[in-house]
Amino acid sequence: MIEIKNITKKYGNANSLVIALDNVNLVIESGTFVGIIGESGSGKSTLLNLIGALDMPSDGSIFLDDIDITKFNENQAAEYRRNNLGFVFQNFYLEQDFNVLTNVEIPLMIQGIEKKKRSEIAKNTLQSLGLEDKIYCRIDELSTGQLQRVCIARALVNNPKLILADEPTGNLDTKNGRAVMELFKALTEKEITVIVVTHNIEQAKLCDKIICLSDGKVVSIE
Ligand SMILES: Nc1ncnc2c1ncn2[C@@H]1O[C@H](COP(=O)(O)OP(=O)(O)OP(=O)(O)O)[C@@H](O)[C@H]1O
Ligand SMILES: [Mg+2]
Repeated sequence: MIEIKNITKKYGNANSLVIALDNVNLVIESGTFVGIIGESGSGKSTLLNLIGALDMPSDGSIFLDDIDITKFNENQAAEYRRNNLGFVFQNFYLEQDFNVLTNVEIPLMIQGIEKKKRSEIAKNTLQSLGLEDKIYCRIDELSTGQLQRVCIARALVNNPKLILADEPTGNLDTKNGRAVMELFKALTEKEITVIVVTHNIEQAKLCDKIICLSDGKVVSIE
């Protein structure tokens, strides 16, 4: 379970202050598929980055299974991300010099898992996403929809409790975008929590819960 308590995030200084998040309170149960919607600049990415311990709030706490992640130092935050999280971004961030398999193995290398084991895990994950015939392809040989599935595979290999995705379907056509959302939905059936930022209201309808932000405040939860 994720509990977000009185989270405020300010950027800048007294002369040019931006309140990106303004006293946000949320509870997200495990295994929920959550959509975050809202206008550009409403604080969606800021909220996702705080939940991912990529950034720290100005005020408030975020508990993941009763641990306050806002108290972490940098090493603890990095360990929390490694052990609990999978990130999926709009712009993929895949390593062009490595093939598909190696890209998906990277989080496992960081964890020090030996070659044979990590290759097996990565291949199984790619297969579960319908990419078994692309394992040895170069990144530039894949379609956009396939690239996004490689990113999801990379986010999944270390069995995260929580997947954070910032506009993962922003670069995809309607069909591939929907396929990615359906894939996320299927993950939540295995008790993985998925939080996805999207501009696409149609796709957000697949979520269990839709949180709408406006000017850094939660304006509705459906
Ligand atoms: N590093 C930063 N320094 C200063 N201001 C920032 C920084 N990051 C975000 N902001 C500001 O915080 C507010 C919220 O930004 P955020 O990126 O969370 O919006 P968003 O809802 O994700 O928007 P978009 O849909 O365009 O991605 C904006 O006003 C933005 O300008
Ligand atoms: Mg954003």
